[in-house]
Amino acid sequence: MNTNLTVSFSVLSGKGGVGKSNLALNLCYGLHQMGHTVLLVDSDLGLANLDVLLGISPGNDLQDIFMENRDPADILISIGPAGSEGFDLLPANSGVTAVIDLDQEAHALLREKLNPLAERYDFLALDIGAGISPSALGFGAMTALRLVVVTPEPTSLTDSYALMKVLSTTYGIDDFSILVNQADSPAEAKRTYARLSAVCQRFLGFTPEYLGGIRLDGAVPEAVRKQRPFLQVNPKSPAALDCMQIAASLHTTRGTLLANEAVSVPLRASIPSRKE
Ligand SMILES: Nc1ncnc2c1ncn2[C@@H]1O[C@H](COP(=O)(O)OP(=O)(O)OP(=O)(O)O)[C@@H](O)[C@H]1O
Ligand SMILES: [Mg+2]
Repeated sequence: MNTNLTVSFSVLSGKGGVGKSNLALNLCYGLHQMGHTVLLVDSDLGLANLDVLLGISPGNDLQDIFMENRDPADILISIGPAGSEGFDLLPANSGVTAVIDLDQEAHALLREKLNPLAERYDFLALDIGAGISPSALGFGAMTALRLVVVTPEPTSLTDSYALMKVLSTTYGIDDFSILVNQADSPAEAKRTYARLSAVCQRFLGFTPEYLGGIRLDGAVPEAVRKQRPFLQVNPKSPAALDCMQIAASLHTTRGTLLANEAVSVPLRASIPSRKE
């Protein structure tokens, strides 16, 4: 049986500020708590901020892979609870304009450099910048799973619809997992998903999967101010409980893939049908 499967997932959104970075960090934290090894990559190259969410100041970053031909393994930072292993961050620099939008060639180089490292982990998570830039789309097309974060606001719904539409027309991708964040209740999360999935079905011809809802919760901004994951600061908060449920679903997905002896490189090649 293949026990070395790395399941990659990107965390995407159409609209900015919907909670991608916080969810990416906390889902990874939850997966690590469940005994998984996890590599989290800050793939928001323009406005990276996972380092800020963790209160750390990395010396090197992802951009050095391009600018100084550095090996990703040299850039890793261990971010698990003190004394633990197997939860690492590849940080990125914010405000470096030289490496913001990766073209196809840069994506291919990054994939080549990241895959040998990522193969050592159970999960590889990419926290992506908001919107439909070629860079965000290229990252989203490389992962096995795409978690699309949406809030109940109509603008977030329309923007996430646009994101899925562009990924579908440009890359032929039609499998997405919806995460409804900042919902007042589990029922509102499900209603939001139902609305989005109905338009996808009608106009795009596919139905995205419902991965779960995360409630609007003051524990999230409180943890941001403390610069620690909300799962660590307040593990019993509604957002933390919801997040653990979603981590459990990802754990189950990996179990199913393992049982089916699925084999795949962590990041796959992605070639747009139209020029990016
Ligand atoms: N479930 C939640 N409850 C309350 N506040 C939340 C929740 N999720 C996220 N937030 C708040 O939303 C803000 C934006 O979160 P975050 O930075 O994770 O979003 P993002 O989608 O990564 O943004 P960007 O598009 O700029 O990368 C944060 O201030 C955070 O505290
Ligand atoms: Mg972010």
